[in-house]
This record gives sequence, structure tokens and C-alpha cells, in this order.
Amino acid sequence: MISVKDQVFRLDTAETTYLFRVTKFGHLEHVYYGPLLAPGEDARVLAQKNTALLGNSVAYDESDVSYCLDHMYLEWSDNGRGDYRQSPTELKMPDGTFTSDFVYAAHEMVDGPVPMRTLPSAYGGDQTLVITLRDTTAPVTLALYYTVYAKANVITRRAVLTNESRKPLVIRRLMSMMVDLSDEKFHLYTLDGDWIKEAHLHCRPVEYGVLTNASNTGASSNRHNPAFMLAAAAATEETGNVYGFNLVYSGNHASYIEKNRRDIVRVATGINPHCFEWVLEQGGSFETPEAVLTFSNRGFNGMSRNMHYFVNEHIVRGHWQKRERPILINSWEAYYFDYDEGKLLQLAKKAKELGMELFVLDDGWFGRRDDDRAGLGDYTVNRKKFPRGLKAFADQLRKLGLAFGIWVEPEMVNPDSDLYRQHPEWAVHHPEKKPLLARNQLVLDLCRKEVRDYIVEQVGRVLDEAGVSYVKWDMNRAVAEACSGVLEHQGEFYHRYIIGLYEVLARVFGPRPQILLESCSSGGNRFDLGMLCFSPQVWTSDNTDPVERLKIQGGLSYFYPLSTMGAHVAQSPSSQTLRITPLSTRFNVACFGCFGYELDLRFLTPEEKKEVKEQIAFYKKYRRVFQYGTFSRLPAAKPNKVFWQCVSEDKNTAVAGFFQTQVVPAETDDRLRVAGLDAGEYVVRTRPQRLHVGRFGSLINHISPVTLDPEGFIMQQINRYYSLPDCVEEYRCSAAALDVGIPLNNQFSGTGYNENIRMLSDFGSNLYIVEKVNTEEGEDE
Ligand code: GLA
Repeated sequence: MISVKDQVFRLDTAETTYLFRVTKFGHLEHVYYGPLLAPGEDARVLAQKNTALLGNSVAYDESDVSYCLDHMYLEWSDNGRGDYRQSPTELKMPDGTFTSDFVYAAHEMVDGPVPMRTLPSAYGGDQTLVITLRDTTAPVTLALYYTVYAKANVITRRAVLTNESRKPLVIRRLMSMMVDLSDEKFHLYTLDGDWIKEAHLHCRPVEYGVLTNASNTGASSNRHNPAFMLAAAAATEETGNVYGFNLVYSGNHASYIEKNRRDIVRVATGINPHCFEWVLEQGGSFETPEAVLTFSNRGFNGMSRNMHYFVNEHIVRGHWQKRERPILINSWEAYYFDYDEGKLLQLAKKAKELGMELFVLDDGWFGRRDDDRAGLGDYTVNRKKFPRGLKAFADQLRKLGLAFGIWVEPEMVNPDSDLYRQHPEWAVHHPEKKPLLARNQLVLDLCRKEVRDYIVEQVGRVLDEAGVSYVKWDMNRAVAEACSGVLEHQGEFYHRYIIGLYEVLARVFGPRPQILLESCSSGGNRFDLGMLCFSPQVWTSDNTDPVERLKIQGGLSYFYPLSTMGAHVAQSPSSQTLRITPLSTRFNVACFGCFGYELDLRFLTPEEKKEVKEQIAFYKKYRRVFQYGTFSRLPAAKPNKVFWQCVSEDKNTAVAGFFQTQVVPAETDDRLRVAGLDAGEYVVRTRPQRLHVGRFGSLINHISPVTLDPEGFIMQQINRYYSLPDCVEEYRCSAAALDVGIPLNNQFSGTGYNENIRMLSDFGSNLYIVEKVNTEEGEDE
């Protein structure tokens, strides 16, 4: 998979080739990254031709005035040697200057990946190439690691800098990787947002100059996710060249995309240099997080498939890797802080009756935590709410047949807590300034060993005492005063915090591998590959409105598989937007993820209870297809539609989601497309769902023999106990026909209801189940 000949390095995955070589002056020149090349392809032919001298450029060596680093496609570049683009380094070298010049010294190849000392990284790679570069004058080395994940079509890269000089070296910037690509009128796609508005996909053309995608909140952040894509202007969901990038890191990240005057696009990604300064004494080395690169010439979906495979097979690990995730009920949007054991058991009983499998006790169970002003830090059970303790409550749940899960926010402390009163110095604060609160809380200083030990011990005790099988690990504020009383160099704070976090997670969950960890940070404020090395799933967003989730889950789906996204059915009107949506749509969106419910089940009508039961039974049947099938976004011919689909691992079954955001009157034909199935004949069926008569408003009087007040008592009762079938269609056709798309029944157009009309309106949706027909002909195919 990795081959080296005449100082040309070739890294092949199943469908891609990555090629670079050592130049005559020892720099690493990037030659090619794209579709798999034929064996023996000549790098000299593919490499840039630098035959003309260019104007006012700085020549690297007078023996060849056309050798200007500023014009070249490089794998790495330094400061002060004539390359004026964004450099992946800013090093105050042992001689006090900012000039470095790393050139080839040696290389080696090893089987598999090389584990990291301080940070989590991908596992199960095929081979690693380590290139050692040495500064031309100082005893400083830079090792570049390239690991090939052949089946995933992924290459990971990272750098390790080592100072052998007696004088210290100061790192102000050290990116994980950089590469120069040839412009294809690239567009940069990023996931940006806010609380309850995470991961919205944004696109802009890459013009001359530098674009930055970065976070400086202390977390990977909901503002700008570390993942991004560069796509050729012509790329679509299904066609065209798309490069995808990500970083195995949960802290401040930065990526630079710079198009220079020669239409070379430089991409660099790594730790954000913002407030970063790391001192390397003699013999010290610094390792960067691992960057992830992929390429597909099959559009965005092709790129996503690579990333999904990579996350499922090389990032998520341990007991829950590729395992089906339980259907949960979460107490948060049901009760918030307002509960006691009795109320919770009521919720649990109903959840069990409906078919749920795991009960998650969210915020409010410990200390004096009756609202968000107190208690964080004190992980002793609140005896007013649980007079017999947590274990007794958990035992009751287990008796009911539910597993027990719990919420914690161990990185935080409320000033109104016993912990803070005992150890105010443990909270991150500036020694002279007033600490800044967010959600009434402060960040605990994970640079301190005693803080890490406290968390490991406290959380571990709770998990063991109550027999917890699932943990929601929250983190609800950004870092503000980034300093620590135990650090000599404050520029190390952000990174040391993240190293501390990883250490804590490893110590808590390493010895308890059966616990399913769902990380959360006010929803998706830390949805990244670093966290996914510990937590197989992440609570995607505090926004449970399904229409908003189309954008949030849809955005994340470019880089992260559905098995990583927590998605729940919540109440309507939505607690975040007040939008009213049908129960069917809330389900149809949430089932594209790790599924659960988060609402007060007492208020479900008998009709809704039946519906929820049916939803759960359906999800159980197709759970594996949703969580581990091949997910695609199909291009929508109309702007008010979203199409998602999952095809089973054997390609014989698919579930397809059809979502309408805003209704269009007298809507033209909608078509159902399902791509990627095995050839053969299929039956396509709508998942039966219920149409609540209340949706018709006063139109009900056109069919009712007596006049009814649409808001009145009788209608309310009818609505509780009666619903209509929501247009069920069934077809038999070939995979080829489905690939092109089959027309669906018409939508309601103001002219009456019958069972063959699709009653979608605003926010309506359907799921379609597509299953191979096992006829003899079918089997022969
Ligand atoms: C955060 C989480 C929510 C919930 C609350 C509890 O906001 O994202 O899901 O757990 O904290 O305080």
C-alpha cells in the first residue's frame, strides 16, 4: 500500500493515490492526490514543471533560480525560506530566530499505525510511513507520520517535533499536516453554528487569500466543526471530486485554506495557534493531533462514505463498536429538574410498556441541584429526590427490564457547591480578575492532577455503586480565562486541558468498557473525532425540532456516521422553536440516528401511544440498517424536500426518508429515488403512520354528519382515540427503476382526502421500506 522508489513515496488506498517526493534540496514536494493511479506511474510526469524563472521570487539556492518554495506544491513548508504562504509552523528556534528549514533525513515504514503518547488516534491502519526531516542548521527534527487506511480511502497525517538543542525551542504553531493541491475552482464547505443551531453546512468559493475555519472556545465547538471539505465547483452529492478533512482533536482547532497567485490551494489543519505557546526543552518532543484526509471522485456522498467507514471501523472502539445502540428515554425534556423517584418511575414504566430499553436520568439527581445554579461538582445523590439512594432506584428500573443511564458534567463546578467552597482554586480563573460565569458555572482546571483524580474517583464511584450502563457526559460552557495556577507557561493551557480530559476519560471508562458513553456539550459543541475515540455517540443538539434536525443531522452526516448521532423524539410544539410537527415526522427524522424519546409520556394520547409503540417496533426491526447501513443524501429536485436513505450492509434492504419542509400548493410529482441497491426486484412500501384528524381543522365538517368545533371537546376526544391511515403506497420494481426514481401519489391539493393522497403539508414526511423480493428469479440474479 505504501511504496518508495527513488525517494518517491506512493500511498495507495482502495480508490486513491497520494504521491510525493524529495526534491534535490531535500524538501518534500507534493505531486498528486486523487483517483488510484496505474502501478508504476511516473511521478516526474505528474509533478509540477518549474521551468521558468518568475519575477521577484526568492530563490532557495542560487544554483537553481527557478527553485522557489513560494511557487511549489509542498508537503511541508517553513518560515523564512522564501515561501510566503501560511506556514504550518511558527517556531522560535533555539537560536531565537523564527527561521526553520526542515529537509529530508530518513524514512521508515512500519506495519499498522504508530500509537500516540498523549492523544487518542485512529486504530487498525494498514501501514505507516515516517519521514524524518532535520533542520539544516539546528539540532531539531520533525517527523511526519502518514498512516494508510486502505479500505476507508483515508490517509492520516501528524507531526512530531523534537528539540535536541541545549537551548529551548518555543512552538507557536505546529499544524498536523499541510498539503498543496491544484485548484479545481474549489468550494470550501464547513459546518458552522451555535447552540441549538449546530453544524449547518455552509459553502463559499475559494478565492485568492486565506480562509480560516477555527475554534478558540477551548472545545472543537458548535461554531466551527473541525471537519471541512474542498469540492470541485462541479461536484454534486453523487459526482465530482471532493476532498474531506478532519482532526482527531476536541480542543481549539484551526484550518487554513489559502489560494495563492499561482492557483495552488494550500490546506493545513491542526491545533489553533491562538494563545498557544509550548516550550520544548532539550530532548523534549511535541506531538500534534492526527489529521484525517480522504478523497472521492463520487461526489459528497462518496467522501461521506469514506469518512463514515473510517469512523465506524477506525475511530469508535471497544465494546460498542458496530453494536446496536439501545432505544432510550431521557428525563430532561420530560421533567427538566422537577422530579422525584416516583415521577421518574412512572416515566420508566410507560417507557418500558412502549418498548424502550434504557432509562437515562438527566441533570438534577445530585447535590442541591434543583436548577442550574447549584450542585455541579458534588456527585452525592440528592436524598430528597432519591430517599433510598441511586442504587435502589436503578434496581427498580432493572426490575422493570430497563437499563440505567446517568448524566454527569464532571468538568464543571458551580460556585454554589461544596466542592467550590472547599477548593475554589480548582476552578479555572485569572488570579486577579473576577471569574466569568456561564450558565452559573466555572470550568474545573484539568491541568491539575488533583482535579483529574477527583473526577475519576467521584464519577467512578457513582458508576459502580448504581450499576450504570450508559453515561451522558456533558460540558456546558466555553473556557474564558485560559490559565492555570499549576502551569509555568500559560500558552499550554488549552492543550493541556484537552490532554487532561482524555486522560480522565480513559481512566473512567477504560476499566468499565461495557458502559455506553454519549458525550454532550450543550448538544453538539464537541462533536469531533477526539471525543468519538471514547464515546461511540454524541448528543447531536439540544434542538429536538425535527425540521431543525434535518439541517443539523444533515450537516453532520457529511463527516460522521448515523451511529454517532443521538436523536430523540420530543414534544410538539418544540421546546426550542415552538414549531408544531407531526409525531410521524419527529420519528422519521430521529430514526436516522441513535434513537430515543425525550418527552413526558403521560401526555401522549392513547392514539399517540399506539403510534409510539409502532415506531419502536419498526426501529428495532431496521435498527441495524439505520445505524450501520450506507447512508446517502439524495439530491432533491425541489428546494422544499430532503431525501435521506440507508442501505443495509448486504444491499438488499433500504429505508428511505422523504421530508417536506414547507408545503407548496398544487405540488407537482414527487419521485422516490433509492440508490445503491443490489440488482434485482424490490418491494417498496410506505411505513404505515397515523394521520391525526385534528390536522384537518374545520375541514372535518365536510365529512362529519354533525357540525363540530375543530378546537372543541368532541374533536379533542376524537383526536385522542382515532386516527386515519396516512397514505400507504406499495410497489414492486427493479433496483434500476428505483435508481432513476418512481413517482409517488399526489399530495393533498385542497380537493378532499382519500387514502391515496399524501397528506404532508408543512413538515410532513414518510419513510419507505425497500426490500428485495426473494423470488426464484430474484435469487438467480
Ligand atoms: C445540556 C444538555 C442537555 C441537558 C442539560 C442538563 O444542555 O445538552 O441535553 O442534559 O444540559 O442540564
